[in-house]
Amino acid sequence: MSLKEEVLNAAENYSLGTYAPDLILSKGEGCYLYDIDGNEYLDFASGIAVCNLGHCHPKVTKAIQEQAATLCHVSNLFYNEKQPELAKVISEKSFGGRVFFCNSGAEANEGMIKLARRWGSRSNKSTVICITNAFHGRTLGTLAATGKKKYMDGFSPNVSGFTHTPMNDLEALKAAYSDDCCAVMMEAVQGEGGIIPATEEFIKGVRELCDEKGMLMLIDEVQTGIGRTGTYFAYQHYGIEPDVLSMAKALGNGFPIGAFTAKQELNDVLVPGTHATTFGGNPLACAAALAVFKTFEEEQIIENCNEVGNYIIEKLKEITAEMDVEVRGLGMMIGVDLKDTCKVADVRKVCAESKLLVLPAGENVLRLLPPLTVTKAESDKAIAIIEQALKQVMEI
Ligand SMILES: Cc1ncc(COP(=O)(O)O)c(C=O)c1O
Repeated sequence: MSLKEEVLNAAENYSLGTYAPDLILSKGEGCYLYDIDGNEYLDFASGIAVCNLGHCHPKVTKAIQEQAATLCHVSNLFYNEKQPELAKVISEKSFGGRVFFCNSGAEANEGMIKLARRWGSRSNKSTVICITNAFHGRTLGTLAATGKKKYMDGFSPNVSGFTHTPMNDLEALKAAYSDDCCAVMMEAVQGEGGIIPATEEFIKGVRELCDEKGMLMLIDEVQTGIGRTGTYFAYQHYGIEPDVLSMAKALGNGFPIGAFTAKQELNDVLVPGTHATTFGGNPLACAAALAVFKTFEEEQIIENCNEVGNYIIEKLKEITAEMDVEVRGLGMMIGVDLKDTCKVADVRKVCAESKLLVLPAGENVLRLLPPLTVTKAESDKAIAIIEQALKQVMEI
């Protein structure tokens, strides 16, 4: 049996059938991935907004290797040298708050919701207002916050205490408010929902309503965080600050780590014994994330994200000018809403045949999340493949 057959055989017989992948990827370097047969792919997916510095960035790899040889894990019964240092960096890059570490996006959101509920319990408030079409994760709590029937089917009884209101509709949000509400939870740019940025009016209106009614504003930056939209966090485009902010995906550039940060004045909510996780903030994960932030500074990653991101958006608008599609995005979080012109699955398939990896989102949106290190030349290559794929699938 070849290695490829062995892998496929083991996956078919022993992996729980939750996913349906079709490529075996063996190696990554920068913006490129290589499959088990040695084929090279230009990666405009970044492991779903995780490898923002590209695959196997040498500085992150070195930090992981060195830390792995020094100390991997001690639990939170002890300090380690890396965790407070990373908390300080995250605090400085956001709004000067305090940080709790965990292992994934859903877990970060779960903790953020728990903080909001425990804070709300002081005044007998527990409902979290969430936004229709959001995605917050697959744990029971974050599923309820997501609120999408498609993801919830078969998992009832659902966690209660969540209500939903449409994105960018301030009047509907105000109407959804009741005395029992302790928080509003939202993405600044909906990712899985189809690359839908919040309008400035809406996000500022959420902030004002939270201040007026005494609710916490929770922003899920699991997908948008760590530079993806051209600022460290997407809320920074809007001139507001949330009370609590979650992050994960790109924080470790592929090393699993999540976190949420809360305003200093919320430090008395989750006191010892109220929330915990064994692996959270272990020195190995924190060393990876520290190397990520250091590399962002040293290599002007945010600057490249903005410059090349705008370039990609403009080029996509040019190549689709005659098509009934909509290009939208922020930084390098980019969507092409294909509407009824063709199926995103077909476009992805043709792109993959031309050795370009792209993602779907929402109902029928082609989602592009290249590594933030991508060059204009690499982007030109991707855009040419996308143009060809769109024309082929739309038969024009
Ligand atoms: C905005 C947002 N929140 C939460 C999650 C869940 O993160 P994880 O898959 O790490 O649990 C995702 C994942 O796609 C996401 O995009």
